[in-house]
Amino acid sequence: MDHFSLRDGVMHAEDVPLTRIAEEVGTPVYVYSRATLERHARVFRDALSALPRVHIAFAIKANPNLAVLRVLSREGFGADIVSVGEMKRALASGMAPADIVFSGVGKTRDELREALDAGIGQFNIELEEEGVAIAEFARAMGKTATAVLRINPDVDAGTHAKISTGLKENKFGVPIDEAPEIYTRLAALDGLAMRGLALHIGSQIFDLEPIEQAFAKVGGLVMQLRAAGHQIERVDLGGGLGVPYERDKVPPSPAIYGEMVARVTKDWDVTLMFEPGRVIVGNAGVLLTRVIWVKPGVVRPYVIVDAAMNDLARPAMYDAWHDFEAVEPIGERMLANIAGPVCESGDTFAMGRDIDAVKADDLAIFRTAGAYGATMASTYNSRALVPEVMVDGDQYAIVAERVLPDALIAAEHVPNFLND
Ligand code: LLP
Repeated sequence: MDHFSLRDGVMHAEDVPLTRIAEEVGTPVYVYSRATLERHARVFRDALSALPRVHIAFAIKANPNLAVLRVLSREGFGADIVSVGEMKRALASGMAPADIVFSGVGKTRDELREALDAGIGQFNIELEEEGVAIAEFARAMGKTATAVLRINPDVDAGTHAKISTGLKENKFGVPIDEAPEIYTRLAALDGLAMRGLALHIGSQIFDLEPIEQAFAKVGGLVMQLRAAGHQIERVDLGGGLGVPYERDKVPPSPAIYGEMVARVTKDWDVTLMFEPGRVIVGNAGVLLTRVIWVKPGVVRPYVIVDAAMNDLARPAMYDAWHDFEAVEPIGERMLANIAGPVCESGDTFAMGRDIDAVKADDLAIFRTAGAYGATMASTYNSRALVPEVMVDGDQYAIVAERVLPDALIAAEHVPNFLND
């Protein structure tokens, strides 16, 4: 459930008409609903309430906006980070270092040192050499780093190939059959406290079967390592739960996911950690855009909007679907293609879509844009970096400014040797 709905014929975010935001802030602009964020955070937390010990670390990559992080930190969420940049955001939003988990296959040595220095709660180790480096840096600082080993369970998550991470040919984690030896060697290092395992098999998952299989494999490893005398006190189950981009394709609910987790992990006796991203923020955001032209096409018209692939990359990158709705629908429909102004045919949001009838200057939204939306934006074609707004009841605030081309140009330099 979200808080973007029609009232008196005008699409609102909570109590704010999107026409007002478009007028005052301009378009394109991402609009987030605080109430929706809070609701999703609580639904997820409630779904896990039957589990004895739980830590939820929001996957910052899905939406790193400081205001969004502040909402989630107030809901008791920690953070799953994959860079020092994300660590700085987590800390700036008020999250405690101890509630931060550092994932990622390419943490640089500098990043590892900075994270150790900041005292983050857990390193998710992706390869043996990384663990060795963390131990060495920690010893040099007189610290002990808490860590878990990320396992690649070799399970097909059944999602888009570009967001699948749990197959043996993927770059993530250590192969499950090599895990016991690697774990044993890392556990013997001074400076490193190995405390458990982690996995994450992919994103936008609709089928719980492969996740359950992967969890069961890891469960076997928990027992095996414990029998070998290791202290296994936490397992990080990653993120990955899908969201309904299309109304008639409904993913498993957090409650059903929670029941599955409770069933599979009942004998583990560990703290279970979760790294949800999309399921928390996806439906809490829309991309508000204005129609520039409706261009007659040879096959069907092109609705050219002022948002483009640089603002919302998902359709161009993953052929992703985002519902498109008029902000002031007139009750008529049209069959059209929807595209942005960028000079690539890939800058197309939809082909042959049955949509609300729109004309030049009308406002519209792309739904379910709160996850992997603004965070993946670029300035391609020297377009402005898209701004973000958060709505709270009948008020709203700009939570990320539009970065104009002038500011981008000011950060570039023409060297003297080109001035001769
Ligand atoms: N944990 C790890 C280690 C991850 O790699 C990811 C996502 C998550 C948690 C959060 O997954 P979620 O709950 O959001 O599914 N840009 C792509 C998605 C990339 C996901 C990368 N990893 C998209 O727009 O679909």
